[in-house]
Amino acid sequence: MDTMRSFINVLVLFSIHKTNSENSFKSVPVTVKTYENETVLLPCYVDDTEGPLRVRWYKDTTLLGDSMDAHHLLPPRVRMHANYSLQVDSLVAGDTADYTCEVIRPEPWGPIRQTHSIEVQYSPTVKTIPDDGFVEVRKGEYVDIGCDATGTPTPVVNWKKNGEPLALLEPRSRLRFKAEHRLLAGVYECRATNGVGDPVTADIRVVVLDAPVVIAERSFVHTAIGLRASLAAHVLFAAPPATHAWYRHGRPVRTDDRVVMMVQDNVHQLIFRTVRKSDLGNYTFRAENKLGMADVQFKLTGVPNVASFKVEHALNKATPVSFTLVWEVDSYSTIIEYNLWIRPYYGRLSTEPDSFTTEAPSNRWVKIVVGGDSTEGPIHSAVYTVRGLTPSTVYEAIVTSRNRFGWSKPSAILHFATEPGAGRQIPSTSDYSDVSPVLEELEPEVHNISQAQVFEHVSESSVGARETSTAILILVAILFFCIS
Ligand SMILES: *[C@@H]1O[C@H](CO)[C@@H](O)[C@H](O)[C@H]1NC(C)=O
Ligand SMILES: *[C@@H]1O[C@H](CO)[C@@H](O)[C@H](O)[C@H]1NC(C)=O
Ligand SMILES: *[C@@H]1O[C@H](CO)[C@@H](O)[C@H](O)[C@H]1NC(C)=O
Ligand SMILES: *[C@@H]1O[C@H](CO)[C@@H](O)[C@H](O)[C@H]1NC(C)=O
Repeated sequence: MDTMRSFINVLVLFSIHKTNSENSFKSVPVTVKTYENETVLLPCYVDDTEGPLRVRWYKDTTLLGDSMDAHHLLPPRVRMHANYSLQVDSLVAGDTADYTCEVIRPEPWGPIRQTHSIEVQYSPTVKTIPDDGFVEVRKGEYVDIGCDATGTPTPVVNWKKNGEPLALLEPRSRLRFKAEHRLLAGVYECRATNGVGDPVTADIRVVVLDAPVVIAERSFVHTAIGLRASLAAHVLFAAPPATHAWYRHGRPVRTDDRVVMMVQDNVHQLIFRTVRKSDLGNYTFRAENKLGMADVQFKLTGVPNVASFKVEHALNKATPVSFTLVWEVDSYSTIIEYNLWIRPYYGRLSTEPDSFTTEAPSNRWVKIVVGGDSTEGPIHSAVYTVRGLTPSTVYEAIVTSRNRFGWSKPSAILHFATEPGAGRQIPSTSDYSDVSPVLEELEPEVHNISQAQVFEHVSESSVGARETSTAILILVAILFFCIS
């Protein structure tokens, strides 16, 4: 008997174990992705040949209905069919949930359950943070903006600033950053996408307040008596709005029929219809708001503009001992003379411990005076052949020009090289990139070297620094000889 009972228990245990698994359902769990107003039918299909079953449906953990309890009212839009399927009509967002069908069977079998899901899909919507889509901060303050996106499935939010995608490590709905620069201002656009319907976008305008930013379109303005001249200041940034004024010698410029102010597209001009000698001089344009001010300086002058060397292979004739330089200068008055400054080019000086000398080579500029022309201009061209140079050597040159108003600022540096040939050779370096030439006898000036460069010949020779100094002395001597 005992053996028999044990056997039955084992059988029962076995059955419970077996029927507890979802295998006894003839339906399979489903996830229904659907849309608003649709109808969904969730199955709860089990073998009920052994008599009627008791079925309960749960939405997440809330009991919806019970097949044996007619008094339990199903919520509106929800029905349970005779075959235990659950039907939900006219779907709304709130119907997105897990739905569990629980089958309660006669003793000794326990309940079995199967869970389905409904996902009511909605195209995204966004709400900006702040609501009005407008943020104004002072420079250095924090900007905190966002886009609350809703929709099913959960939308992904991406950003653009002024039309350019922002490279964020991962999509996010909130942006918080320090407005460290006025250029962080702009229109931030968020775009929410979830694959349902069209993506939606919303804009947030971020304004960064700071002192104004102004640049001079040309700070050195060349003119001559009787001509029209204009000084132009470009206000790049003014938030909050700035007030503007032109000053001369600390006092506001007095305008009349001849001297007028004009403003167009943030460009402020001071126009001299016919320049008088008394107009020449320094001017200041000032933009000012409550966070600060910006000054830009101008010089209205009769002295020539900065000359520029021309790089044209047909004209820049090189021999082992000479080189022909060509330059141009704008001047409304006759050029009286040019000063051409020449020196061998060494690039970076050696700092090797085994170099022959710790003395820098005497790399001084040599001045050559070149006569002007008699033309009125405004464009003056000059050609000059420098002689007595060393073969296979790189030189640098600068030119200044003088008219009756005075000397121009120095030109950009030109690098040029002589042809290879017999004779002594001065070493030169092939590394020209980090040279910062210094003008010794002229006022220092930032030169834009890329404007004029001739690198046709790069000498490969390497001679000790002591020989170099000697060679320079010879060169300097030759140059002085040429000039005199
Ligand atoms: C669903 O029905 C409501 C009410 O009739 C309607 O306003 C809504 O636009 C419908 N939604 C869709 C996605 O058709
Ligand atoms: C259950 O009944 C409903 C309504 O009669 C029917 O539409 C559905 O197909 C039935 N489901 C199964 C699995 O038989
Ligand atoms: C004009 O400004 C320059 C510096 O930009 C200064 O060297 C010069 O002395 C000023 N001239 C006058 C007349 O103030
Ligand atoms: C130098 O001049 C070139 C050509 O005029 C310009 O493109 C470049 O921006 C200038 N560089 C600097 C540092 O001014």
